[in-house]
Amino acid sequence: MQKYNPFRPDKIVPPGMFYGRVEEIEYIEHCLLQAKHNNSKHFIIDGERGIGKSSLFLYTRYVATGSVEIASGEFANFVTVDVSLTEDDSWYSIVRKIASSLESELNRISIFRAETRKL
Ligand SMILES: Nc1ncnc2c1ncn2[C@@H]1O[C@H](COP(=O)(O)OP(=O)(O)OP(=O)(O)O)[C@@H](O)[C@H]1O
Ligand SMILES: [Mg+2]
Repeated sequence: MQKYNPFRPDKIVPPGMFYGRVEEIEYIEHCLLQAKHNNSKHFIIDGERGIGKSSLFLYTRYVATGSVEIASGEFANFVTVDVSLTEDDSWYSIVRKIASSLESELNRISIFRAETRKL
């Protein structure tokens, strides 16, 4: 019988099928834990085409926003934003892009909070 193949080369892996990346995840969780305790630590995810960058980013977002534990019993509570940069961006345009994404995300969160308060 033909089996359904859940993987798509152009699609992020669903969290339930996420496999491996233990070292990378441990390092990312370490950075987020440091940042949560006011000691910001940066990281970059880079790699060949289709290696799994976006999938790892999706997982990172779950940890960063507190859907997944950051360390035993600890959850992060970061606001995350997506920003796409181009080679034409200046420092100023980068800051504007981040500020505008942050503003929409904060609006989205406050609308969501107001709506859930009504429930
Ligand atoms: N940890 C993982 N476990 C299982 N499958 C994975 C994992 N990471 C990625 N994949 C699968 O590999 C493929 C590519 O993943 P993804 O889109 O995250 O890669 P990418 O590096 O962002 O690709 P691109 O360079 O095209 O942006 C997808 O089919 C995805 O489902
Ligand atoms: Mg990608």
